[in-house]
Amino acid sequence: MKTFSFTVKHTGTVKAALGRNMENIPAQFPALFSGADKVCLVTGSDAPPSLRARALALFPESTTPRFYFWLPPSEKAKTLEAAGELCSFLFRHGFSRNSLIIAAGGGAVTDLAGFAAAIYMRGINWVSVPTTFLAQIDAGLGGKTAVNLGGAKNIAGAFHQPALAVCDTAFLDSLPHAELRSGAGELAKYAMVGPASLRRAIIKHLPKAITGDKTALTACVSACAAYKLSVVASDERDETGAREPLNFGHTAGHALEALAGGRLPHGEAVARGMRAALIISRDMRLLPAPAFKKLDALIDTLRLPAAKAVRRDFDKFLALVSRDKKARGAGNRFILLESAGNPVAVENVRAPLLKKAFEGALK
Ligand SMILES: NC(=O)c1ccc[n+]([C@@H]2O[C@H](COP(=O)([O-])OP(=O)(O)OC[C@H]3O[C@@H](n4cnc5c(N)ncnc54)[C@H](O)[C@@H]3O)[C@@H](O)[C@H]2O)c1
Repeated sequence: MKTFSFTVKHTGTVKAALGRNMENIPAQFPALFSGADKVCLVTGSDAPPSLRARALALFPESTTPRFYFWLPPSEKAKTLEAAGELCSFLFRHGFSRNSLIIAAGGGAVTDLAGFAAAIYMRGINWVSVPTTFLAQIDAGLGGKTAVNLGGAKNIAGAFHQPALAVCDTAFLDSLPHAELRSGAGELAKYAMVGPASLRRAIIKHLPKAITGDKTALTACVSACAAYKLSVVASDERDETGAREPLNFGHTAGHALEALAGGRLPHGEAVARGMRAALIISRDMRLLPAPAFKKLDALIDTLRLPAAKAVRRDFDKFLALVSRDKKARGAGNRFILLESAGNPVAVENVRAPLLKKAFEGALK
């Protein structure tokens, strides 16, 4: 087990543990767990039994009263109603400001349970236990919590760091191929915007990771989680701009997710959103054609299935990219690339360019 402790501006110290088949996490972090008067383990209702068994190995029952709460499956969990139901459940069972939420699941579970932890009694401690590839390299780390509203992604939310994040790659043994591929979408993102050493590691491990190879997955989680935590440490709340490149592919990606009515896995949407951003980067003459070809080929390695669920409605796409919260009042705002590892934010990309990118993203 590798442990990290890092200091972030608003929260102070945040801890993380990475490994495979870890056990009894409270014994490793006694201060956090012995101070809790009650614990609620939150998981998704469609989680496989092995997920719950692994979560119990990580967090064995103790004398601290333990409660269990199941969220609706996947993206259906990310609603204000579900957050309200979880908060009401905590209140009914006497949870106080000294209580603890443990969120074990994919990014939908960690986003929702983290959001409930942010608003319940104006904020209680939570432990993030990401169980998908995507969540272990991205969603379960960094303290961004949110729900969707009006069909748009992550519109209401809060920054609320987990006191501890636990990434155990044994969870990934039960992950279906489609979820591994979705995680590989966010993995490719780090290769596009991250430093050269991370890019080399990802290019080496991605082909095996996507087949479920345990060593490759553990290597990717270890490298990407450490990188993401270092970025979060330098820009906890998106204030300095250091964190913004991690949104590469997300402006168009979130719009495609909305056009698919939640039936496009997040990482696949991001991969298609990255393809759109690469096309815009090339056509605005920011990214030279050879670099475009190389980076676009990385997206090809994901072998994305046809995006049948996405409505081919460009006008709606246009409206969605302008409504994305990253637009910051501009018509739209995209992270583009000048070269691998050199992202740049560009506002008000024109509609004809966006049309070409939209079509290219769905090819
Ligand atoms: N907060 C952030 O910084 C951030 C970053 C990226 C993505 N996200 C969010 O994360 C969400 C996507 O997360 P995701 O890709 O993990 O999808 P998900 O949470 O929807 O989970 C996908 C499916 O995998 C199942 N699952 C989870 N763990 C499993 C396991 N170990 N074995 C078998 N099945 C398992 C779930 O039950 C679910 O059906 C999106 O809502 C996205 O917006 C958040």
